[in-house]
Amino acid sequence: DLPLAEIAQGRGFTYGCAVTARLLAEEPELAALVAREAGLIVPEYEAKFAALQPEEGRFDTEPLDALLRWAQHFRKSVRGHALVWHNAMPDWLPIALAEGRSRAQGVMEAHFDRVLSHTRDRIRDWDVVNEPIANPPGSDVPEPAGNSGDLRDTPWLRALGPDYIAIAFRAARQRDATLRLTLNDYGVEADSPPAEEKRRRLLRLLRDLRARNVPLDAVGIQAHLQMREAFNPAIFIAFVRDIRALGLQVLITELDVREVRPPVGDFPARDAAVALRVHAFASAAFEGGARTLLTWGISDRWSWLFNDQAVALGPGDVHRGLPFDWELNRKQMWRALARAF
Ligand code: XIL
Repeated sequence: DLPLAEIAQGRGFTYGCAVTARLLAEEPELAALVAREAGLIVPEYEAKFAALQPEEGRFDTEPLDALLRWAQHFRKSVRGHALVWHNAMPDWLPIALAEGRSRAQGVMEAHFDRVLSHTRDRIRDWDVVNEPIANPPGSDVPEPAGNSGDLRDTPWLRALGPDYIAIAFRAARQRDATLRLTLNDYGVEADSPPAEEKRRRLLRLLRDLRARNVPLDAVGIQAHLQMREAFNPAIFIAFVRDIRALGLQVLITELDVREVRPPVGDFPARDAAVALRVHAFASAAFEGGARTLLTWGISDRWSWLFNDQAVALGPGDVHRGLPFDWELNRKQMWRALARAF
């Protein structure tokens, strides 16, 4: 079989995955698999705020640089993730942001100045704002009260108001006129009332940003899918088209699948169910006009879903929601993606 990257490319698509600098350095088999299968990579941690600026004014780009060197060596493109986010904030950041509007603006500008100039030659696509939409009632991870309408209550929002999003996109465009600027979010894929409301919220935000000429090029749909949720291709296709009708590209940025409760064993049945869902989802995304798809990791063994599980004893009891299994064997999900491209 050809690598997924080549199958995708041959049909006008791009396949990529998230990976960490540590895995590239310490797990040669995983690194070889990513080198073979992915055309595009995204740092799972190294380009987040806490990684890049652990203390104010002290930038630590080495882990990201290591990943960028690896990508350059294997001729992979790299997405940047993420400039403005409520998670992965260093301890000092929320404190600084609480010190007033001009202070917050200064912090954002200093971070963008340094990071965007440092990565200018290697990263041409950035998640400028990650996860700005508030989770509606009924979501898995409900937000505490305090959300400002459609927007999630975050230290950035409290410092700069709802306009923090426009401010961030303008600041990014000002520093690099040809960068693809992306707004990335999750929880908009399922056929459920909270997902439907989150789609409405996201579309309202996008329409508002477009109406005000805020420089924004693309929307990233994370696609952390869950087997227990219903998926309706027609609804999702219409959503992707609604975004594209605003003149925005759509990327699938973090695809993986959470099973209901990873039962030990019965891999063929579980893998078949996951593959069916992934095929339906990816086909719908492409039908809607998405041309790029990344998975959040590539092997179940190093999935963040594994790290997050309360009990994860070994290969039998991890979620099987990525294209390769614990032993780096191709799964039915790999085939589902190959068919969808
Ligand atoms: C996750 C990483 O995979 C974890 O290792 C880390 O502990 C937390 O962040 N949405 C995002 C990603 O935008 O940055 C998150 O990544 C997963 C959810």
